[in-house]
Amino acid sequence: MQILSRELKHIAIIMDGNGRWALQKGMEREDGHVQGAETAKNIIQFCSNIQLPYLTLYAFSKENWDRPKKEVSSIMRLLSQTIKKDLQSLMDLNISLLIAGEKNRLPLYVKKSLEIAVQKTAKNTGMKMVLALSYSGREEIVSSLNKIIESKNKNINEDLVEKHLYCPEVPSPDILIRTGGEKRISNFLIWQIAYSELFFEDVQWPDFRAENLSNIIERFYERKRTFGNIE
Ligand code: IPE
Ligand code: IPE
Ligand code: MG
Repeated sequence: MQILSRELKHIAIIMDGNGRWALQKGMEREDGHVQGAETAKNIIQFCSNIQLPYLTLYAFSKENWDRPKKEVSSIMRLLSQTIKKDLQSLMDLNISLLIAGEKNRLPLYVKKSLEIAVQKTAKNTGMKMVLALSYSGREEIVSSLNKIIESKNKNINEDLVEKHLYCPEVPSPDILIRTGGEKRISNFLIWQIAYSELFFEDVQWPDFRAENLSNIIERFYERKRTFGNIE
């Protein structure tokens, strides 16, 4: 088992490439999402086994709502089914689930299954897993600022903005991974990744394995992080 050092607390992943993976195989884009959900389960289990404290998975962006209705509704169905089906394994792994994003845009049945899972896993003491759903980094910052305005606090500072993000208890990611070959952030955690180590991988998400993640963790330990300072 990989041993994590204390400097690695949080890994965030942009799970990209499901559609291309399926089309390359002559399948439907939706089949790629089904396979992508299998990969996510594997990676969650691996991260829990190595006792990673925090894992964030980008599952659906605010911008993804603009995709064809058929794809959006199949992703929503898959989300709800997967959460229901795998709630017991989250419990067995002692994982607690958090959601980052604008839940009000989600269909009611998805919101319900998420709420049940969040509630049921709330007291678990193992890995915290954040699902970024209906998520936009810019919107998260604006929503934080609005909450500060509502609290009538006039001295806005970085600590205060952080305290009003969707999941204030989650530290900034040490590692940000994007699979699927694109080299962009696509509105993910734009506040939190100010000093994250970035890894852009060509492998499509459905083909991503624990070995890929293990290799990224090793490369992370080889990087020098001085946070603007010198050694
Ligand atoms: C990522 O895979 C999953 C979601 C955005 C929901 P894509 O569906 O973006 O797959 P590609 O990038 O088209 O291959
Ligand atoms: C980012 O992937 C969102 C998720 C992985 C959930 P997209 O495929 O939506 O991003 P773009 O369109 O390539 O920027
Ligand atoms: Mg994509």
